[in-house]
Amino acid sequence: MKIKIAVLASGRGSNFTALIENSKKKSSLFQISLLISDKENAGVLETAKKENIPSYYINPKDFSDKKLYEKKMVEIIEEHNCDLVCLAGYMRILSPTFLESWGKDVLNIHPSLLPSFPGLNAQKQAIDYGVKFSGCTVHFVDEGMDTGLIIGQRVVPVLDSDDEKSLSERILKEEHILYTEAVNLYAQRKYIKR
Ligand code: GRF
Repeated sequence: MKIKIAVLASGRGSNFTALIENSKKKSSLFQISLLISDKENAGVLETAKKENIPSYYINPKDFSDKKLYEKKMVEIIEEHNCDLVCLAGYMRILSPTFLESWGKDVLNIHPSLLPSFPGLNAQKQAIDYGVKFSGCTVHFVDEGMDTGLIIGQRVVPVLDSDDEKSLSERILKEEHILYTEAVNLYAQRKYIKR
């Protein structure tokens, strides 16, 4: 049986698209059952509609506090019987309220080789530091900032000629492969809990 995934995203959603495409492969161990976005005009909502994936725009400003907003999301995720939440460019930090009331796993993709360069503008941080390799990481979400257990990483070179844009593009191509690899590993429980 395929695991059912809810994706939370705020932007263009190229990782979301890659997950959808890969979920259609015979070998896939997951299906995308739900998309939630906190941005009304996010490209990711359009993609979900085209693909007939149930999608919701939930405006955090409609709630008097973050707890209520996050509880609403958990309610919808549970209604769709999801097994796993995947963050794919979701530009908010999930609070302990979300993690506790959801009670199951949450994965995130980050555009650096964690634990290097957590937080915003990871590709720029890598360029500014002068590292020769960077990449992307899929990890479990815990209460910290990009600190949870790592499931998988992919590495790219950082070229002398790179700027933030060219490095971001090279990393993004690997993200599109990595997220699917990591979710399939997750579905088989093939990761090492330390
Ligand atoms: C990706 O670089 C991802 O690693 C980061 O946000 C970006 C989302 O891109 N968390 P997209 O919306 O999936 O194209």
